[in-house]
Amino acid sequence: MPENNPAPKGTDFLASSLSSSVSPAEAALRPLNFTDFTGQAKTVERLQVMVGAAKRRGEALNHILLSGPPGLGKTTLAFILGNELGRNVRVTSGPVIEKAGDLAGLLTNLEEGDILFIDEIHRIQKTVEEYLYSAMEDFRLDIMIDQGPNARSVRLSIPRFTLIGATTRSGLLTAPLRSRFTLQTRLDYYDVPTLAGIVRRSCGLLNVGLDESGAKEIASRARGTPRIANNLINFVRDFAQERAKGRITRDVAAAALELLEIDAAGLDEMDKRMLRVMAENYGGGPVGMSTIAVAVGEEPETLEEVHEPYLIQEGYLQRTPQGRTLTPKGYHAIDLKPLSGNQSELL
Ligand SMILES: Nc1ncnc2c1ncn2[C@@H]1O[C@H](COP(=O)(O)OP(=O)(O)O)[C@@H](O)[C@H]1O
Ligand SMILES: [Mg+2]
Repeated sequence: MPENNPAPKGTDFLASSLSSSVSPAEAALRPLNFTDFTGQAKTVERLQVMVGAAKRRGEALNHILLSGPPGLGKTTLAFILGNELGRNVRVTSGPVIEKAGDLAGLLTNLEEGDILFIDEIHRIQKTVEEYLYSAMEDFRLDIMIDQGPNARSVRLSIPRFTLIGATTRSGLLTAPLRSRFTLQTRLDYYDVPTLAGIVRRSCGLLNVGLDESGAKEIASRARGTPRIANNLINFVRDFAQERAKGRITRDVAAAALELLEIDAAGLDEMDKRMLRVMAENYGGGPVGMSTIAVAVGEEPETLEEVHEPYLIQEGYLQRTPQGRTLTPKGYHAIDLKPLSGNQSELL
């Protein structure tokens, strides 16, 4: 049973925005080819080169690892690769593959050139992972069947397939697994103009009236993340219908998002709770993530995967060997000012 968590609305909203299950609304907005996929120029160019070459040679695409925080387009890119190559994409995720037999089942059902997409690949069992090595490299699986004196190994050959792995924590992948991906590419948070473009595209698909300032307002509060931008659009659209004749302007977007407690910088309640705990309880740090996690009542993994990367990229906090420290910008975000001697007071 999930605990009844009295977290404030803003936090719930971000968490649900970043859950990996795909709603129909989300599927409708997902770009299906490179042309509709905005941003991530380097990654897209690398993928296009590989797709072009694979098609020209009539071969399966080489294995690819996509890493980066949730909601930036890893799953989307896996499906785009399938579309661009005209191949099937089979989807699974690291924790779901419990034993070698599960993997064998998946792999032997593939057709030549198919894509196997393994989400959260850093969470794959070590015992299963070892079978992946020979599957990726030599397209065969040596599976042990039976036990004791009858134990024997059976070699299965599998079609030449493409593994696309996605991970929010590439650092947790073992070196042998990582080295078997020909391309390892990282998705970054989107800048505001690029996100505004995504907002315009989504609103177009949803038939929502929007002006340029409204697009920019939503984009600047979306934490650099398309999935969050799309989720904000849904709420802002409702708000615009109820309160503002349906059209999204800067003021309408700002008022709607204030109601969700998403501030002008896009920080949500949990982001700010982290900053506040660091300032008020730990003098701005350095403090360890597990300590922060206990203080804010969230899993350290969630803070590290979802909240911290954005806070670091935007310069609200820093990672040092001693722990996390709050920057002056971090203090300002919660209306405190840094004082010498690690003291802080209300502005
Ligand atoms: N570059 C992009 N352009 C337009 N929409 C995007 C882009 N990247 C992601 N999205 C949207 O964001 C949603 C989340 O992307 P997804 O691929 O599921 O992220 P991830 O797998 O990295 O968590 C998708 O449904 C898609 O609509
Ligand atoms: Mg995904």
